[in-house]
Amino acid sequence: MLLGTQSINAQGHLEIGGCDTIALAQEFGTPLYVIDEATIRANCRNYKAAFEKRYPKNRIYYASKAFLTLATARIIADEGLNMDVASMGELYVALQAGFPPSRLAMHGNNKSLRELEMAVESGVGHIVIDNFREIEMLAEVAKRANSTVEVLLRSTPGVDPHTHRLIRTGQADTKFGFNIADGSALKAVKRILEIPEFVFQGIHCHIGSQLLDAETHEQAVGIMVNLLATIKRETGVEVPEINIGGGLGVRYLSSHEPPSYDAFAERITTSLKCALDSAGLAYPLLGQEPGRALVAEAGTTLYTIGAIKTVPITEEPGTRTYVAIDGGMSDNPRPQLYESVYECLLANKANEAADTIVTIAGKHCETDILIWNTPIAQPEADDILAVQTTGAYNHGMASNYNRFLRPASVLVNDGKADLIVVREQFENLTQNEIIPERLKA
Ligand code: LLP
Repeated sequence: MLLGTQSINAQGHLEIGGCDTIALAQEFGTPLYVIDEATIRANCRNYKAAFEKRYPKNRIYYASKAFLTLATARIIADEGLNMDVASMGELYVALQAGFPPSRLAMHGNNKSLRELEMAVESGVGHIVIDNFREIEMLAEVAKRANSTVEVLLRSTPGVDPHTHRLIRTGQADTKFGFNIADGSALKAVKRILEIPEFVFQGIHCHIGSQLLDAETHEQAVGIMVNLLATIKRETGVEVPEINIGGGLGVRYLSSHEPPSYDAFAERITTSLKCALDSAGLAYPLLGQEPGRALVAEAGTTLYTIGAIKTVPITEEPGTRTYVAIDGGMSDNPRPQLYESVYECLLANKANEAADTIVTIAGKHCETDILIWNTPIAQPEADDILAVQTTGAYNHGMASNYNRFLRPASVLVNDGKADLIVVREQFENLTQNEIIPERLKA
């Protein structure tokens, strides 16, 4: 599977954004996150266009947790999208990048006082309130700052998407948001409407991530529109915005078939309009927060292959070949956390038949398998392995486990490669550490 601007050049090397990945590995070292700028930009435009033509009153917030660096924030700003941040750290990075604060949305299920103050002081566009405590805390913060704050309410529609249990959030039993069915959401809306510092902007939900069909989103839309109708009936307020969060899945494997942006938009907007029409409601602004769908396929991780080992399999006849790479769960914890699957290829043998089944082993001191039983060309030490679809939640979730240095990220476009994240240095490993006086040699 070749994604985005990927191609194979005359030397049989994988190219991304017009850059030879073998040259990138030589120049910047491995492991290396290679980010395809044209793909991110095209995704932003196409996602927006798919909704624009079906439901013009819409607004896209890129969920920055998927991949946030100063450079990505610039690209998103440039593409005219809004952005969601879910912590003070994400807010800080967005502001440092010069992202217009009025186009930011602030999230979090347990925002601290300091976080709310920072959001209000920096003038974020809206804050998505998650719980009753936060309503009162934010009211206080807004009052003290003598400002009004636009707020959305995070609701829990009680739907259960088909995805890994650790990335499901729409079901009733969740730490996120206000339950709709038990009346908490309505109660919270009524309280929000009493607070003079609040401008009540809408209802939000995020039901889960890496969803490969639109079915659960449609269910959530129906439930949220019912809530809008109840709010209107009980309070007379017409809710200006309905935000359905993110969740659209991507291709990790060639066999994955997520809906196209157009197919997804068609289903979401059709179900939204139908529900609104039958409830007799005016069309609100449709907000969304796609993360993975905009950046995952734009990322490829390059590794250098080291040891290769073939061992007998104990449960069945045969052998397994472990191909060890110079990274693993510190640059991609997703297989360990969510049993995530990936495809890969040998970037320096991209034209050769992928006729060898191998298991890609990380370098960390535990099982740390990145990909089980995957076909690649005949591997040798020093080959460069390219793992596909690593643009979302890889850089952001990387760690220093085993005191690994977090990889560099390079942004490629039109044959140019720009370093956007420098590889960590050994000094970074100890820069925040202190030896108490009494332990000094
Ligand atoms: N909005 C909210 C409020 C969210 O919590 C999330 C993701 C999104 C939007 C974006 O969802 P997306 O479009 O990317 O599916 N670390 C996990 C994914 C966790 C998603 C958390 N929330 C992973 O690596 O799969």
